[in-house]
Amino acid sequence: MRQNLLRAESSLLRYPIREVVEIGKRFERLAHFKMVWENIGDPVASGEAIPDWMKALLREQIADTASYGYTDSRGDTAARQYVLEHFSSEKVCTVDDILFFNGLGEAINKILNNLPKEARVLVPSPTYPSHATAEAMHAGCHYISYPLDPENNWEPDVEEIESHVRYNEQIVAILVINPNNPTGSVYHRETLEKIVAIAKKYHCFLIFDEIYHHMTFPGVQTTLLYEIIGDVPGISMKGISKDVPWPGSRCGWIEIYNAEKDQGFSDYIHVILLAKMLEVCSTALPQKILPAIYGHKQYPEMLKARIQKYQQRADEAELFFRKIPQVRLNKPQGVFYLVVELLDLPYATLESKNKDVRLELERLEQQKMAADFQFAYELMGSEGICVVPLTGFGSDLTGFRMTLLQEDDALFTDTLQRIGRAIRAYY
Ligand SMILES: Cc1ncc(COP(=O)(O)O)c(C=O)c1O
Repeated sequence: MRQNLLRAESSLLRYPIREVVEIGKRFERLAHFKMVWENIGDPVASGEAIPDWMKALLREQIADTASYGYTDSRGDTAARQYVLEHFSSEKVCTVDDILFFNGLGEAINKILNNLPKEARVLVPSPTYPSHATAEAMHAGCHYISYPLDPENNWEPDVEEIESHVRYNEQIVAILVINPNNPTGSVYHRETLEKIVAIAKKYHCFLIFDEIYHHMTFPGVQTTLLYEIIGDVPGISMKGISKDVPWPGSRCGWIEIYNAEKDQGFSDYIHVILLAKMLEVCSTALPQKILPAIYGHKQYPEMLKARIQKYQQRADEAELFFRKIPQVRLNKPQGVFYLVVELLDLPYATLESKNKDVRLELERLEQQKMAADFQFAYELMGSEGICVVPLTGFGSDLTGFRMTLLQEDDALFTDTLQRIGRAIRAYY
């Protein structure tokens, strides 16, 4: 090529949740087995059925010619009105402050890419990697993070947040993921109120990724940003990938709060809207059908049954992992993930499925990597289970994230036992 085709920051482009899949697929080919994919938060891929009433709604929507045209660049007006009335608040938001995207993945990129390079968003650690990677790519250097504390049920360390914001004038926003991926924790209202107070004191805006807002275990209540934001500018992110669940719809939205309270913030939001206009709009069909799905009389019981299953899985996993001394576990309060911390994790190997897998592992392990990446590769090559290393979520702590999604009870129990066997052998 006449010119270098890579941007300097291209080396920061990482998405470990899917990168491990490439390696897992190679192992499947080399040793002729079927991997258990515990890496991705896709309920459909994990065997959850889409109910007939939802498929019937979709068929009806497909028959409606209106589904075939563009929508307003902000998104379908009826969908935005529904979102405003059911998931948001007119105290801080209007129907024009709701913008639809092709999945929150797109929204995350639009929010970060339209900030100036030197304006930084403080992200949690561990975090959902799309946020951290988009932040790093936009800034052209490593993201800046605050820790979630495993000794305090993965609550954000508020003092660390304040210290970052006070001493780094470049920080313009604080990202909170609540309920949280990857930890499954649901934050205390007081913690969130303190974060809002920090944003107010230092004139920052807030980004709350609330895509799991419906997914808390019975008796656990989540506090939504609109309830506590007061007059601070902020963005709430939600979507239909997890709670409907329809991740393949690629449909998510942002709710902008207090846009009019700060001219700089409102100009920036306008740029995000212009960027969306450049693409005309997001896919119409999922937006058109959104009110009918969430409003369907069978939706609440479907959601309840799913959440009950996740809680049952979390209970079983907690009982199981508690018996392994090298593991630290905080029981999730919602969502469908489980973080298993592996304390003082060494670099070691496990017996591989065959010689070809061993050779491939040896080739991979010549590269410098965190100890939990090596554990995850060895786990794939020995027990045929694919998890995501905890350091892949931008954490200094070692361990892995698995899901609570598995539909098959026996397979879930078997997966736990195989992981347990691997942990014991690895140490
Ligand atoms: C916290 C969080 N935010 C955003 C997303 C992306 O959602 P979408 O499917 O809408 O792109 C995910 C997906 O796993 C997530 O866990």
